[in-house]
Amino acid sequence: MQDGHNRRMRRAGVSGAIAAVICAGYLMAQSAPQPAPKAAAPAANLNQLMRSLFFPHSNVVFFTQRYDPAEVKPASEPSASTDPLTGVFGGWEAVENSALTLADSADLLMTPGRKCSNGRDMPLANADWVQMVNGLRDASMFAYKAALTKDRDKMLQASDVLATSCSNCHGKYRPGNAANRCRP
Ligand code: HEC
Repeated sequence: MQDGHNRRMRRAGVSGAIAAVICAGYLMAQSAPQPAPKAAAPAANLNQLMRSLFFPHSNVVFFTQRYDPAEVKPASEPSASTDPLTGVFGGWEAVENSALTLADSADLLMTPGRKCSNGRDMPLANADWVQMVNGLRDASMFAYKAALTKDRDKMLQASDVLATSCSNCHGKYRPGNAANRCRP
């Protein structure tokens, strides 16, 4: 009887200690600063990103200079379309979404560790690089807002602003000689 009682007490003591440890762990987890999740190393080099993402999505925006997205004929199989404009989420919605994609993708031009095609690092420490990345983001948001109005005159202006944001950077960091790309 006495023995059983002691055993129960001991058991209570042990589980109490475990509970205390768990609580302490919980409190520590609550108060200790959480390490930021580590981003994966970039997969694409800058040229690959330009060809796969900035080029096609800016073309969706530039399309509005000559054509009305509302009049785009959907693809015969819209859910399998490789052209955002003729797909299920096509027309003006595609223009809006491509502009937003460009805006958010500006961050990819600031990813540490991303290389240019010639093996140089992207020149992230250069103030004008950062400025031109921000210029691209702003131009993309300008295009997004213009797309919301479905006003093609506004799209002409927005396309011009977007194209200028591309060529500003190319003028300095994408010279004819590929070996000199991304130079400080
Ligand atoms: C902040 C600088 C910057 C901005 C902004 C920028 N680019 Fe680029 N782009 C580059 C650099 C640098 C290269 C060359 C990269 C390399 O060789 O790795 C390049 C390469 C390219 C290429 C591939 C060229 C080739 O040789 O095949 C295309 C296409 C391109 N850019 C399109 C665009 C478009 C369209 C925009 C605007 C919507 C844009 N870029 C905005 C810096 C920029």
